[in-house]
Amino acid sequence: MRVYTSLADFLDRRTGTARGVPSPGLVLFLALFILTKTSAMAGEWLPLKNDGIHDPRSRAIKILQQPQEALQRLTPDYTGNQVRWVQALDKGEIKPREKIFPTTKVEKLDLDIILDVKGGMPAVRFPHRQHTEWLDCVNCHDTIFARAAGASKISMYKILQGEQCGICHGAVAFPLTECARCHSIPRPGMKQPELPAGIDPRTHQIGGQGKP
Ligand code: HEC
Ligand code: HEC
Ligand code: HEC
Repeated sequence: MRVYTSLADFLDRRTGTARGVPSPGLVLFLALFILTKTSAMAGEWLPLKNDGIHDPRSRAIKILQQPQEALQRLTPDYTGNQVRWVQALDKGEIKPREKIFPTTKVEKLDLDIILDVKGGMPAVRFPHRQHTEWLDCVNCHDTIFARAAGASKISMYKILQGEQCGICHGAVAFPLTECARCHSIPRPGMKQPELPAGIDPRTHQIGGQGKP
């Protein structure tokens, strides 16, 4: 794995040829993963009493705001919990409180880490800005990830097991079925897969509803 902290470096140094192919085990794992997850992806907001999380007998069910009412006004997503959270925050649709204690120091960082992957997948762009709008440095450093580009051994296999990026993605952040949201940087000289006209490359659906 090679790691870059600027897009220009990545484009400069990449040769454009794929080094190696993903292992057959990983390919099978990914195929099964996508098959089991796609059915559960899209949908509508379930009322709290049917969501399998809240106790339907609890009195709170009548007091709590329903997800449908709270979320329908925010920038929509076609997957996960159907809100494009990064855009909702950027557009000022939500203004979460940054801290509870006045003394807490809020730290933000605008630094992209580009993780070049083995095999034919586009490289991964990890954006610090979007993450530190929501999270504190200690949520990731130095337990999940080292504070040095290239030091953590990140792999798709571990991510799919719910480690590394998979601790949040697929749980509280957009799901792992959205490959292209992470694998967003095509290698120089890489050919885009050719799909028949009218097929959305991200969802592989006819007239797919995927938006950039
Ligand atoms: C959501 C997880 C996450 C959060 C939150 C996060 N980082 Fe990182 N950070 C990463 C990852 C992933 C890497 C790359 C690690 C690797 O390649 O081994 C990284 C790398 C770094 C690096 C190394 C850059 C380099 O050039 O080598 C620094 C410095 C850093 N982070 C600082 C911060 C600071 C400061 C904050 C808080 C303002 C922060 N990070 C918040 C995930 C995170
Ligand atoms: C500690 C939790 C956490 C970890 C670990 C984490 N993320 Fe995220 N990530 C988030 C949250 C929260 C958001 C914003 C909500 C969303 O987009 O669903 C986000 C957003 C993103 C976005 C921006 C999406 C957009 O719409 O612009 C990308 C890209 C991303 N993550 C990639 C990664 C990658 C790659 C890793 C691993 C190297 C990673 N994340 C690890 C929590 C995390
Ligand atoms: C949350 C971000 C994220 C999502 C979503 C994601 N990946 Fe990855 N993927 C990564 C990271 C990070 C790596 C490790 C990069 C590296 O080698 O440093 C990786 C690596 C890979 C690799 C290289 C082999 C390996 O074991 O590391 C393949 C192949 C891959 N991903 C395929 C996929 C496919 C297919 C999907 C969609 C089903 C997907 N990824 C979704 C972040 C993501």
